[in-house]
Amino acid sequence: MTSSRKLYVKSFGCQMNVYDSQRMADTLAPEGYVETASVEDADLVILNTCHIREKAAEKVYSELGRIRRLKEAAAADGRRVLIAVAGCVAQAEGAEIVRRAPAVDLVVGSQNYHRLPDLIGRVERGDKVVDTQFPVEDKFEALAPPSVAATRARGVAAFVTVQEGCDKFCTFCVVPYTRGAEISRPVERIVHEVERLADAGVREVTLIGQNVNAYHGAGPDGPWSLARLVARLAQIDGIERLRYTTSHPLDMADDLIAAHRDLPQLMPQLHLPVQSGSDRILAAMNRRHTSTDYLAVVERLRAARPDLALTSDFIVGFPGETEDDFAVTLRLIDEVGYSGAFSFKYSPRPGTPGADMADQVEEAAKAERLRRLQAAIDKSQAAFNRGCLGRTFPVLFERPGRYDGQLVGRSPYLQPVQVEAPRGLIGTIAAVTVTEVAANSLFGTLAETTDAAQVGVDANLHAPDLIGAGA
Ligand code: 5AD
Ligand code: SF4
Repeated sequence: MTSSRKLYVKSFGCQMNVYDSQRMADTLAPEGYVETASVEDADLVILNTCHIREKAAEKVYSELGRIRRLKEAAAADGRRVLIAVAGCVAQAEGAEIVRRAPAVDLVVGSQNYHRLPDLIGRVERGDKVVDTQFPVEDKFEALAPPSVAATRARGVAAFVTVQEGCDKFCTFCVVPYTRGAEISRPVERIVHEVERLADAGVREVTLIGQNVNAYHGAGPDGPWSLARLVARLAQIDGIERLRYTTSHPLDMADDLIAAHRDLPQLMPQLHLPVQSGSDRILAAMNRRHTSTDYLAVVERLRAARPDLALTSDFIVGFPGETEDDFAVTLRLIDEVGYSGAFSFKYSPRPGTPGADMADQVEEAAKAERLRRLQAAIDKSQAAFNRGCLGRTFPVLFERPGRYDGQLVGRSPYLQPVQVEAPRGLIGTIAAVTVTEVAANSLFGTLAETTDAAQVGVDANLHAPDLIGAGA
């Protein structure tokens, strides 16, 4: 055990990176690294990077410029600061990062975090280290679990990676290259991890994976589906809410759809990216489904859980996308009625088939379509939020709000809800009546009854009712 040093980890991109960053901090804690929220104090800075779009990757280099100056200032004071780049940019660019940003000491690929103590030891002895091999050992089982104190500090809603990598090869996407082939963690390990989280006060767990509903981890009697895993986790004392993300429409299995009907802990909210409403573009993207297939899945989901809130990702300006293709996407948004969505301009990624396709769409057209798409999503989201006005549903309180006496929690549909409530309610679920809605959050008051079970979510409310007229 060495003396205490300060660690600053910054996550870019998806929730899987947030989870990985926590596990890196957990793995470095026994080495004497204590997390700091301030980069100026850090002895070791880890940037956990995202390569999904060009803009995301470029952010890393501008951040590295800033950190290099901090490193130089610290060196002038006789203090050594180490800089590590982890995540998908590290995986994709490897040694190129050290060439472009020589202040970087360590480049560590997304499958190698369990080796960090050893890699940092080598850096401390003066080497520059690049480790982006896909190792044979399983990083998840080699990574240290969080301490109870670390879990408490991270709050009552936690992420757990259950699946990583992807075999779908959508033609725009780098994930199959940066995160590799799809793997699922064994059931027993996940159960153990969630039990630990529950013991430390976690009440809501979101299972994450790039293609989470393709989960097929080893169970005691052969491979388990995600639905079986979710049902098992719902039995753990203290786990009151479960979610999972991100799902591919093709892997929306019958048992998982049924779980949305049968399992009260499974929250009525699902991120189900469609990317485009045009069958021609979906085919060019290698999504392997049509818009009709997607709508059929949505219909089955809503038959199982009528109030299900759906969110999606959209890409505008994929190669070959015409105004007509785009118009069909806008129609699909109206038809589904989303509670929110992320939207992106297509960004050609080196090494993916899309980058070499003819008919790349001009930047100006992409920007214009993105504006229209976002307006359609905002309208859909506003309608969904308006549909919540006056309703009473259970809210899990997560942390103090911006103003004194206020708490922020989550609705079953994942909206943030601001409520005047005593601090002691953090970590508990209470019934809240929605009194006001804004673009991105709801406002409410504690309902007369604090017995959330009595008010539950009204599963018989039909989604179109919820979305409300005028959408
Ligand atoms: N360009 C733009 N958006 C992309 N996404 C993935 N790859 C690209 C790309 N090359 C989006 C998809 C995906 C989300 C995580 O990021 O919509 O669902
Ligand atoms: Fe990327 Fe998702 Fe397609 Fe996999 S399913 S290639 S992660 S967009």
